[in-house]
Amino acid sequence: MSGLIREDDLEQIKDRVNIIDIISEQVMLKKAGRAYKGLCPFHQEKTPSFSVDTSKQLWHCFGCGEGGDVISFVMKVDGLDFTEAVESLARRVGYAVHYTKTKSNNLGIKQKIYEINAAAAGYFSKVLFSPMGRETRDYLKSRGFGREIAETMWLGFAPDTWDGLKNYLLKKNFLEAEILKAGLTSQGSNGKSFDRFRGRLIFPIKDIQGRVVAFGARSLNGDNPKYLNSPETPVYRKGSVLYGLNLAKTAISSQSAAIIVEGYTDLLALKMSGIDNAVATCGTAFTLDHFKFISRFTDDIIFVFDGDAAGIAAAERGLELVSQIRLPGDNTLKKLLNSYKIGVKVLVLPEELDPAEYVAKNGVENFRLLITNAKQFTDFYLERIMIKYDINDDNQRQKAIAESLAFIKLLASAVAQEKYLKRIAEMADVSLETLQIDFKHVVSDKRHTVKAKPNQPLSKIFRNATSVAEREMLKLILQIPGKGAFLKELEPTDWQNQDNKQLFAVLKSKLVGKGKLNVQNIVHELDGNQKNLVVSLIMEPILVEDKERYFLSIFFKIKELSLERQIKVLIKELSVADMKKQKVLEKKILELQSKRREMRDQVV
Ligand code: CTP
Ligand code: MN
Repeated sequence: MSGLIREDDLEQIKDRVNIIDIISEQVMLKKAGRAYKGLCPFHQEKTPSFSVDTSKQLWHCFGCGEGGDVISFVMKVDGLDFTEAVESLARRVGYAVHYTKTKSNNLGIKQKIYEINAAAAGYFSKVLFSPMGRETRDYLKSRGFGREIAETMWLGFAPDTWDGLKNYLLKKNFLEAEILKAGLTSQGSNGKSFDRFRGRLIFPIKDIQGRVVAFGARSLNGDNPKYLNSPETPVYRKGSVLYGLNLAKTAISSQSAAIIVEGYTDLLALKMSGIDNAVATCGTAFTLDHFKFISRFTDDIIFVFDGDAAGIAAAERGLELVSQIRLPGDNTLKKLLNSYKIGVKVLVLPEELDPAEYVAKNGVENFRLLITNAKQFTDFYLERIMIKYDINDDNQRQKAIAESLAFIKLLASAVAQEKYLKRIAEMADVSLETLQIDFKHVVSDKRHTVKAKPNQPLSKIFRNATSVAEREMLKLILQIPGKGAFLKELEPTDWQNQDNKQLFAVLKSKLVGKGKLNVQNIVHELDGNQKNLVVSLIMEPILVEDKERYFLSIFFKIKELSLERQIKVLIKELSVADMKKQKVLEKKILELQSKRREMRDQVV
């Protein structure tokens, strides 16, 4: 299973798949005219702006601007790359995919690493259940982890040898260099590679599809570091995987809540106690990537932090959290609180316990109780701000108030702001009236303003006449068969808007034969923004009866606008030119002006 998928396979698969069936699995679609409409799965909305066109087999969201074909939908919704998405669709329609010889090496090595990782996990597991793994099994048992959970989670043991795994994998015909690339061996200064994990309990880390992407390895004899993890590899980026999500995603979705813990063992303990909507971050901060993954399954997230000093520090980091929050001014938090509509709760466990210890000591029912009563993120965050300062010191109190007001400002709802103003007034021991006056200042202070980059509907971005004309031109070229040839009549200078100009260049380069464009094939060769632009252009209705005439009008309008710009430039030059150059320029300007009149006369 490596290499590139054959072009005609792509066509075959696309022919067999009905985009409506695939998208209906994720989105409630209602027929509206020629298209189907529903709530966009990629951003929060109350009125449907997500639209699917069966005749074109394309989807597009007029709210957030995302769009594409059935493959890009599967890529986005399931977090797959192109090949994986095609393979997944092929499986659904029972089509056997053929591969060409691998053009992209990276694709090959990725596939190889998945295979190596799976083989390595098998090896570690085999060793765990062999006589060599007895001590480790005893250790696991002492912590309440029996055979069943060990098998579910593919736990294993890396024996304390330098080449046990390496030799095993070499025997399976994997190459030394590939094993190294998978991060399972390290290379010594003499160039020889040796097993990275030795004498450690192994936690295979799987991605959302259940493929082993990395390993966490816990020392059992007090060796440092306590955990040794895989390095980053072509299939593993730190901070992009949540341990256990492949198993927990259904429960997260059905219970509409996700519990985030820090440790592998915490996850194991919760799972054994019947809590199956938990995932672990595995030693990294919670990242925006994590958020995106989780938010596909639920809007409600509960962070559980260890009650020890490190846990509380982690909670604070985690609140810097919810990664990269710099307050004020950065819109990450705002996005999370408002756009994603994610309800974040935080639980810091008492008595310096981690979730595994807490459940062992106090039972799962008490843990559930704590979860139910976890603090809203906003409350938690405010308390942390207050704790940092000494409220009895006027100077520090001012700082606490300033910091908390800047935070409250990020909340979208005035009701929520009002509620938290009351809380701040209580905590900082000031009157609500005074605080409200302060808050007004904070709100009107430009320095605190969050520079939002909203996903504007494209229609609002393209405001002026030039852009409208350019956009219409591209739209018509993409939608009306046979109009591709007109691309040859246009020059880069005919485009003012950079996005349009770039798209024009791409389309022009894709012309085949007598100026034919194969739009379906083009879609996949474009990067994110361009793809979204193309798809929205293809999906937007053409609102005129006489399309031919409209097309020509737009064409000449673009030419006219382009000439107008050129003339402007020349006129500018004229003012600084010497006599001789002036003559030339004037002649040129007259020429262009007459051309421009010609063009204008064609516009109806
Ligand atoms: N971690 C890590 N590297 C370390 C220490 C910790 O990657 N040197 C990560 C691991 O993913 C670990 C998590 O941070 O699971 C939490 O750390 P800790 O609480 O120390 O480990 P536990 O998972 O609780 O392990 P145990 O219960 O066996 O002590
Ligand atoms: Mn722990």
